[in-house]
Amino acid sequence: MDIVSVDGRDRAVFERFFAVRDGVRREDEFPVGLGLEEARVLMAGEHSDVRADGIGLVDGDEWLGIAWLDWWLQENTHLVEVELAVAAPYRRTGVGSKLLEVVIDRARQDGRRLLSSSLLGDAETGESAGTAFAAAHGFVRKHVELHQVLELPLSEARLAELEQLAPGYTIVQWRGPHPEEWIEQFAEALTAMAEDVPTGELDHEPSRWTPERIREADARLAKQGRFCYTTIAIDADGQLAAYTEMGGAAANPERLYQWGTFVRREHRGRRLGMAVKVPNLRALQADLDHPAVVHTWNATTNAPMIAVNDHLGFRRVALRTNWEREL
Ligand SMILES: CC(C)(COP(=O)(O)OP(=O)(O)OC[C@H]1O[C@@H](n2cnc3c(N)ncnc32)[C@H](O)[C@@H]1OP(=O)(O)O)[C@@H](O)C(=O)NCCC(=O)NCCS
Repeated sequence: MDIVSVDGRDRAVFERFFAVRDGVRREDEFPVGLGLEEARVLMAGEHSDVRADGIGLVDGDEWLGIAWLDWWLQENTHLVEVELAVAAPYRRTGVGSKLLEVVIDRARQDGRRLLSSSLLGDAETGESAGTAFAAAHGFVRKHVELHQVLELPLSEARLAELEQLAPGYTIVQWRGPHPEEWIEQFAEALTAMAEDVPTGELDHEPSRWTPERIREADARLAKQGRFCYTTIAIDADGQLAAYTEMGGAAANPERLYQWGTFVRREHRGRRLGMAVKVPNLRALQADLDHPAVVHTWNATTNAPMIAVNDHLGFRRVALRTNWEREL
């Protein structure tokens, strides 16, 4: 058996790697995750905030399992994020353990002191093969998020019922990159969001956003074939009070994602979460010509955000738990 190093530049190798990962993800009731080209751009490119690469455990022409690695470059340089996927016929034969050994070696060589991993599991207990594997390998559960889904399109009557006015605020929307006019304020809001979002006991640093970093992320998103719909609320002084972002990728049009939603502290308690989410959903579904599922994840402790999602009609489908292992 051989260990093969993978990045996005060798397309043929990358496709074998991706097929294992995607095959495992498709076992879920509501499959999520990057499409081939979205993933390849991440692994092929030079990005200032992350280096993504992978390894495969290969026997002749057969790919038994893979590990995807995210090496953070600006914050969280102490850790490596890892995702393992073992093809169904080869489970419980030590493939995952072998891959993990190689990952640990590489992480130590790079001077990282922590492995971090997100695992999907049962909606009630959070348990799965992944969590059993993690517990058996010295990982500790540090954080829990609820995975919720909403089926689109919503009817016009339902949207009208959900509509929430925000007196004193102006709603602004766009599809695509952040307009230069809002980019400074958006960088501040994204940074504040990263600081405020609950992360349990995780040893993670919040991301610090700058206009330059947003421009780079927008360019990467376009290259990945992704799209993003944004709605913001502006107060009477022209200050960005709230935003929400939702999107997906042309290659997997049935999978949509609710990305961040944030209301600045001094504007909370005025239903701005709903006031930006509903028009954003309306814009997103106006361009849909097929049914789709919107996915969202929130800390189980984030009661206000989950309440907004429940109100919108999101269903609870799984728990995602976050685990860490010191090296
Ligand atoms: C989790 C996963 C990577 C494990 O890979 P694997 O090659 O089957 O793991 P190993 O054979 O090395 O298992 C090592 C140990 O982990 C534990 N384990 C693995 N799968 C388990 C399961 N389904 N139930 C209970 N324990 C399990 C056991 O302690 C096992 O040792 P044992 O077989 O001697 O009892 C694989 O099941 C998988 O791809 N699952 C779907 C994707 C996923 O959850 N990935 C997230 C992991 S980061």
